[in-house]
Amino acid sequence: MEDYKKVAGLIKERGYAVAFTGAGISVDSGIPAFRGGQGLWEKYDPMEYAHIGAFHSNPGKVWIMLRDMSRVIFESKPSPAHKALSDLESMGYLKAIITQNVDGLHQIAGNSNIIEYHGNHWQLVCLNCATRVALAPEVVSAMPYPMCDRCMLPLKPDVVFFGEGIPMKAMIRANEEANNCKVLIIIGTSGVVYPAAEIPYMAKSNGAVIVEINMDPSPFTSSITDHFFKGSASDVLPEIMGYF
Ligand code: APR
Repeated sequence: MEDYKKVAGLIKERGYAVAFTGAGISVDSGIPAFRGGQGLWEKYDPMEYAHIGAFHSNPGKVWIMLRDMSRVIFESKPSPAHKALSDLESMGYLKAIITQNVDGLHQIAGNSNIIEYHGNHWQLVCLNCATRVALAPEVVSAMPYPMCDRCMLPLKPDVVFFGEGIPMKAMIRANEEANNCKVLIIIGTSGVVYPAAEIPYMAKSNGAVIVEINMDPSPFTSSITDHFFKGSASDVLPEIMGYF
């Protein structure tokens, strides 16, 4: 398709691309997105299962959702879209990935400069003594929840719950990349969660060309997106890579 070739040419000539990814890039990896038909938030009310207040008041209940999410993440592997971004970095065009995802699939796909805006599910942390424990099937099967051996308190995945702040280092790095990038590739995000959703607007205001790949339009599509591809990231990204 002409547009694939045109976007590939843009990335080559502008030379500093950054990807901004959401749950949509991992759907083909077997991890359901949050919103929309089969979304995780259709099954679990985020305010009851993904808010820091809920974690403190009822960790056993929150760990029902976390166990479910962990099992899906254990089974997942990088999609063709993840692999395409790894190739784009290897060729020197993709300088960073700012991801809202916590599944660690960009690392597994081979990318190296990854900014995890919402943290990473593969590390559990004790909020009292900061002990870290790697996520593993035998860890998540502990009932009613995995516990810190020292404090006997519930361990929490090192992810940003609703009601928590964004890790400062991630925010600073993401803002820098939003200001440095010449092309921002938005992949698989509904663009409704802040402050993450500010990033594409920051990139646009610094003069970046905005490319968006999504199954559905987002608030970015009609406001800042220059090239919109409606479809699965696993179909669209490999097509674009075909012109490198
Ligand atoms: N390819 C591209 N886009 C897809 C695909 C696919 N195969 N499948 C679904 N999508 C799109 C959906 O149409 C939707 O626009 O991906 C988007 C997923 O949106 P959400 O489920 O809202 O996920 P995301 O935008 O990443 O959520 C942001 O919300 O709940 C919090 O912390 C959580 O990081 C998450 C944040």
